[in-house]
Amino acid sequence: MKAIILAGGTGSRLYPLTQISSKQLQAVFDKPMIYYSLTVLMAAGIRDFCLISTPKDLPRFEHLLGDGKQWGVSIEYRPQPRPEGIAQAFLIAEDFVDGGDVVLMLGDNIFSGGDDFPRAMAAFRGGATIFAYHVKDPQRYGVVEFDGAGNAVSIEEKPAHPRSAYAVPGIYIYDHQAVEIARTIGPSPRGELEITDVNLEYLRRGALRVHRLSRGFAWLDAGTSTALQEASAYIEAIERRQGVKIGCPEEAALVRGFLTMAEFEALLVRMPACEYRDYLRGVAAEMGRLGHAR
Ligand code: TTP
Repeated sequence: MKAIILAGGTGSRLYPLTQISSKQLQAVFDKPMIYYSLTVLMAAGIRDFCLISTPKDLPRFEHLLGDGKQWGVSIEYRPQPRPEGIAQAFLIAEDFVDGGDVVLMLGDNIFSGGDDFPRAMAAFRGGATIFAYHVKDPQRYGVVEFDGAGNAVSIEEKPAHPRSAYAVPGIYIYDHQAVEIARTIGPSPRGELEITDVNLEYLRRGALRVHRLSRGFAWLDAGTSTALQEASAYIEAIERRQGVKIGCPEEAALVRGFLTMAEFEALLVRMPACEYRDYLRGVAAEMGRLGHAR
């Protein structure tokens, strides 16, 4: 399966930080925000990426991530001239999707814990799969309502009176129909091609599956300065406690076998002396000892 990472937008809620660089390039504790989404997808086995951002920010992403070969993946880039909605990603990356299944992920969503995504991707048999996560403030998100049998019956974008506490996080799995649906939905009153409208069309077609994320799962969004700070503090706490890093693409590449140990070690030689490199050295040593059981 391929993946589109959407990392454009205006990031107005993070002003003035976003005067320096885009939201998805800001630091979340010890690494750029975009590493977290990329790593979640790599850990799920995805190797083909298309990253969409603003024409201004795209060169910065290319500088940071390159063509992906250093991590055994492929990363293509496409500009989104104006932030005209999440669902516009399908129109921008239509040639990349090329009629296949695709994961769409927002570059400012941070997840930790569980194997829900790889399982959902492996179980995907067409239509659309989205996720639902219990939150305290559902009115800020797309909100999904379930019937007694656990089937989704409605999705509302930022409702004033949410019908449930289940928000839809920014990771979605679609089949080929998504491109055609994105072409037909038309902009919402706020002038955007809404991903909720795409999901609603799948629901209408009886082709939407909603996977509830388990309680132990963490979903953080880093859209405001406070949320960004909280995300950093959360990642720091977990990394300190467990001695493992979250959102480390080099580690995911090694664990998934995208890189051989020799290629991984060559990557470390090119890295400056830093805590990040020390960590990766530890990963290599441990994997050598455990025989890739990490
Ligand atoms: P938002 O957080 O809704 O918007 P934003 O990033 O522009 O921030 P703000 O509201 O503070 O101005 O966007 C969610 C994610 O989707 C974020 O990663 C940016 C991305 N996005 C695009 O890349 N293009 C778009 O047209 C839209 C609407 C969002």
